[in-house]
Amino acid sequence: MKVAKATSSRAASKTAKTVDPSGFLSDVKTLRARARKHIEEGALTDDYTLNVKAAIKILNDALATELVCTLRYRQHSFVAKGIHSEPIAQEFLVHSNEELGHADAIAKRIVQLGGAPEFNPDKLVSRSHAEYVTCDKLEDMIRENLVAERIAIESYREMVRYFAEHDPTTRAMLEGILAVEEQHADELSDLLER
Ligand SMILES: [Fe+2]
Ligand SMILES: [Fe+2]
Repeated sequence: MKVAKATSSRAASKTAKTVDPSGFLSDVKTLRARARKHIEEGALTDDYTLNVKAAIKILNDALATELVCTLRYRQHSFVAKGIHSEPIAQEFLVHSNEELGHADAIAKRIVQLGGAPEFNPDKLVSRSHAEYVTCDKLEDMIRENLVAERIAIESYREMVRYFAEHDPTTRAMLEGILAVEEQHADELSDLLER
């Protein structure tokens, strides 16, 4: 919560300069007292303005999406057949590993917010935005993965708007993931045009 702290301090120091220097000091005291109060909550400070349970649920749905995408890409990377399959299978594997990296980042953030990341396989498909689809043809695989990426792109954009300035750390993480999903979609669409 470095950013929130910096903003509060900045606002307080502005007050201190123009209105009342003692106001700044009492603000620091409040800040320190608040920080000590719920110390077991770690990075989650009292100025977190979102409903943290709702935020964790949104992140767990994104985690499920990433895990389903990890598995779908991985399965496709093994079953891809045909004369042009090798580089495409390789690309599926690279994407699979990147989706797993996204899952890890999201799980880590869920823990920082005081939640438990959901890895129960029974719940993954129902929570995921994207679907787990297997295909026989290479072209169908590319198309299914592109559809999943487009779903991910839209849902991440929505999440970025939700977290906005309320939780800049989560927003920055999601923006980073969104940029990679856009790159994935772009690569898949290039493959379809070949
Ligand atoms: Fe991803
Ligand atoms: Fe992706």
